[in-house]
Amino acid sequence: MARLSLRGIRKRFKAVEVLHGIDLDVKDRELIVFVGPSGCGKSTLLRLIAGLDPITEGEFLLNDQRMNEVAPSRRGIAMVFQSYALYPHMNVYENMAFGARLMGLDKTEVEARIAEAARMLRLQELMQRRPRELSGGQRQRVAIGRALVRKPQLLLLDEPLSNLDAALRSDVRLEIARLHREIGGTTIYVTHDQVEAMTLADRIVVMNGGRIEQFGSPRELYETPANVFVANFIGSPRMAMLPVERHGNVLTAPGIGSITPDRLPQGDERDILLGVRPDGMTVMPDAGGEGFAGTVVYTEYLGDSAFVYVRLGDEAAPIWVRCAPDANFAPDTAVRLQVLPGRAHYFSRRTSERLSV
Ligand SMILES: Nc1ncnc2c1ncn2[C@@H]1O[C@H](COP(=O)(O)OP(=O)(O)OP(=O)(O)O)[C@@H](O)[C@H]1O
Ligand SMILES: [Mg+2]
Repeated sequence: MARLSLRGIRKRFKAVEVLHGIDLDVKDRELIVFVGPSGCGKSTLLRLIAGLDPITEGEFLLNDQRMNEVAPSRRGIAMVFQSYALYPHMNVYENMAFGARLMGLDKTEVEARIAEAARMLRLQELMQRRPRELSGGQRQRVAIGRALVRKPQLLLLDEPLSNLDAALRSDVRLEIARLHREIGGTTIYVTHDQVEAMTLADRIVVMNGGRIEQFGSPRELYETPANVFVANFIGSPRMAMLPVERHGNVLTAPGIGSITPDRLPQGDERDILLGVRPDGMTVMPDAGGEGFAGTVVYTEYLGDSAFVYVRLGDEAAPIWVRCAPDANFAPDTAVRLQVLPGRAHYFSRRTSERLSV
């Protein structure tokens, strides 16, 4: 069993603070994903949990016990590193046995655990090979196997798929989801890939600049992003963001047009950011009236759908609109966008926080 609580965790390297007060509660058996841009502190936080670096300030509890001063080997945690380092002179079997032997397990127990991990990770045929005789994906699976053999109550995976090609990534991703179900432990998985986060996680921690921006299920993050950062980070292609002014029931983007949406944000803020996902809008040839006027940059045909790339007024960044596959707007066509009912997100331009409707 592994239930985690992080309370006001700060991490400083000399004078530089890289984690600014992390509070997080993880339930037993959850698969939690840390996601965020490079340098936001994901690996650092994972290393503090594993005990590889000291916590500067705050408290880490594992099943209600304070872990700050507990040695890594006594935490019941196994970690697969971002740069998984296998011992080059040992074959697959020996690599997997090494950590388990260090734990003082007897030979038959080690053998049984390796056989089980090898079966789950489909490594049975490769046990006698050295790391250099394996593909990148096979090596990655050995690194995961080495962690599993220790039967950790908590498994930490730092970008375990980073060295794989796209097809192998989705294979091993499925493998990890299956392993998590089969083993039933708590898992923390780090990635900067939001698709990986969305498909794997029970709950996602979105990090940015050493802080947690939001913690919630994939659906919560997608449907109710807490702020502009999360709204931009989760979802692909990204959400369109348009600065608008509110006058009564009307939202106006100066020089672009106006809409009268079905739902408006609470409160009386005038300067609002309107956010709409690519499938929350319609695009039509411009015939005047309400809506936002733009010009088509190009249309991308994807088989099951088409994406129309539209520039609104002089806005720097064009936006994506998802359409039926037969949509085919020539470049420079004048179009008008409408927001579908219930699909507008609102954010304060002052604070970047979500405004509820
Ligand atoms: N040992 C260290 N000494 C000083 N600064 C460090 C050290 N380790 C990490 N940092 C800094 O802490 C910040 C967070 O780094 P971290 O490795 O946790 O990022 P990350 O989110 O894992 O990024 P990536 O996605 O690139 O792996 C970075 O600005 C990094 O330069
Ligand atoms: Mg990292």
